[in-house]
Amino acid sequence: MTLTSPLPSGRIAVTGSSGKLGRATVADLAAAGYDVVAIDRAPAPDQVRDDAVAALTADLTDLGQAVDALAGCDGVVHLANIPAPGLRPDGVTFTTNVAMNQAVFSAARTHGLRRVVWASSETTLGLPFETPPWYAPIDEAHFPRPESTYALSKVVTEQMAATYARWSGVSHVGLRFSNVMTAQDYRDSFPPSWDDARARSWNLWSYIDVRDAAAASRAALTASEEQLGGAGSAPNVIIAAADTCMRRDSVELLAEVFPDVELRREVTGTGTLFSIEAAERVIGWTPRHSWREVLDARA
Ligand SMILES: NC(=O)c1ccc[n+]([C@@H]2O[C@H](COP(=O)([O-])OP(=O)(O)OC[C@H]3O[C@@H](n4cnc5c(N)ncnc54)[C@H](O)[C@@H]3O)[C@@H](O)[C@H]2O)c1
Repeated sequence: MTLTSPLPSGRIAVTGSSGKLGRATVADLAAAGYDVVAIDRAPAPDQVRDDAVAALTADLTDLGQAVDALAGCDGVVHLANIPAPGLRPDGVTFTTNVAMNQAVFSAARTHGLRRVVWASSETTLGLPFETPPWYAPIDEAHFPRPESTYALSKVVTEQMAATYARWSGVSHVGLRFSNVMTAQDYRDSFPPSWDDARARSWNLWSYIDVRDAAAASRAALTASEEQLGGAGSAPNVIIAAADTCMRRDSVELLAEVFPDVELRREVTGTGTLFSIEAAERVIGWTPRHSWREVLDARA
C-alpha cells in the first residue's frame, strides 16, 4: 500500500488562533488554500477575515467544547496552551496544558481527523541550561530534560501524542518550537544581548521566525506518512532558525559560556547550535527567514 499525504487541502482547525503563532498560522494556511477554523478562548481583533476562515470561541480544557469545535475538520494544528513557564502558578500550567492537549487529541480521534500537528517546545530539551547541555548541537535525542512544569507538560504530551497516534492510527507531529519571534521581537530582544554572551545562553542563542514556524505546521500537515515513519507515527522535531541571534561565531560563544560541552560536529559562523536536520528529513521543512533581514536591513 502506498501511504501518501492525507492533507494537501481540506478543513483545518487552528487552536490558539488568537495568539502570536496562531495568527501567523491561520494566515499561512488560508493563503495556502485551506479552509481554516480559528479556535481560541479569546477572539482576535485582527484575525484574517475572509471566506476561508471561520472563527469559534471555545475553552479547549473542556472535552465537550473540544469535541464540538473539531467537528467537520480534516486535521488540526493545536497551538493553544499556556505558552511559557512563570505566567501562571506551576500546577495550573501543568494541569491546564495536559488537560487541554488530552481533550484536543481525544476530540481529533472521535472525529477521525487525518493528521494532528501540535506545539511541543524546545524547553523539553533542557532549557534554561542553568545545567549545561550534554552536548552540542542539540538534537532530538537531547531529551527528556524538563526543568519546569511547563516543559514537563510538553514532555507528558509527547507521550500522550504517541499513545493517541497508536490508538487511532493517525500520525501526530510534535513541533519543538524554539523561541518564536516577530519583527518587533527582534528589535526589542536581540540588540541588547549582543554584548553579553550570557544574556540569551538559556536556549543556546536560538530562535524561530514566526513565519517559518507557521510554515512548519503546514509542512507537518502535508508530510507523507512514509516521511513521518508510517501511519500512526508520532515524531517530534526541533523547529529553529538556521542561525543564532548573535553576531559572534557560535563555537566561540559555546566555548565561553559552556567550556566543557562537547561539540559533536562542525558548526560554522553564526550557525544554529540546534540541529534542524530531522525537521528537513521528516516534514520536509527548512527555515527561510533570519532576524538579519530585519535588523541588518535597517543598519
Ligand atoms: N512563543 C514561543 O516562543 C513558543 C516556543 C515554543 C513553543 N510554543 C508553544 O506554541 C504555542 C503557541 O504559543 P504562542 O506564543 O502563540 O502563545 P500565545 O499565548 O500568544 O497564544 C496561545 C493562545 O492560546 C489560547 N488559549 C489558551 N488557553 C486556551 C484554552 N483553554 N482554550 C482555547 N484557547 C486557549 C490563548 O487565548 C492564546 O490566544 C503554545 O502551545 C506554546 O506552548 C511557543
